[in-house]
Amino acid sequence: MRLDKYLADSGIGTRSDVKELIRKGRITLNGETIKKSDYKIDLELDRICLDSVPVLYQKYAYYMLNKPAGVVSATNDNVNSTVIELLKNENRKNLFPVGRLDKDTTGLLLITDDGDFAHKILSPRKHISKTYLAQLDGELNESDRCRLEQGIDIGDDKITLPAVLKHEVNESNLIRITIMEGRYHQVKRMFQAVDRCVLTLKRVQIGDLKLDESLAEGSYRPLTREEIALCFERPSAL
Ligand code: URA
Repeated sequence: MRLDKYLADSGIGTRSDVKELIRKGRITLNGETIKKSDYKIDLELDRICLDSVPVLYQKYAYYMLNKPAGVVSATNDNVNSTVIELLKNENRKNLFPVGRLDKDTTGLLLITDDGDFAHKILSPRKHISKTYLAQLDGELNESDRCRLEQGIDIGDDKITLPAVLKHEVNESNLIRITIMEGRYHQVKRMFQAVDRCVLTLKRVQIGDLKLDESLAEGSYRPLTREEIALCFERPSAL
């Protein structure tokens, strides 16, 4: 593999950033400074450092995006902007969103090029929880809340799995809902089944991974290894 690709894939910068680091002599290979971007390296044997700190190769990329409304969760679209277009500076070609949020839904969306990871997050058998904040058009009474918590008929073959609902403090129509599935328009359809309309929807958590609220809508950042593992944990606050 070329040295510049190794460095860019490892997340230390874009291809042009890493070329600059190489040109400035900040990259060493087995202790020797290398100034050729196309130098061929051996993934098994070579030790690459930036300013003497080892750079570990990351086979796959994992990002958290704070999805804005108005863009679609797709890799290509002839009409709308896609979430992938928001990752402007990334050189990875095979990135895709892990599942779909509706065009008007905001919040936590994972982007990766790791198909196995996406499958584990999305597979209905794995029961990875997804938590949303839903602003409703009115109050939710206790009986409707119980129906949603027990599992409700939304017109599919099966009723939904039990959900967990909490009212946000001081916000009577704002509900935090955690579901263990990812059916089409699931949250909106669940509230529709109790005659409530979702005015806005934001995903705030996947497993025990929370949306980094310091990310402005439309911004993204790489996930740390610990954060990748958190996606598979049961939410600590449930
Ligand atoms: N449920 C919905 O209804 N919409 C989403 O975007 C996600 C979950």
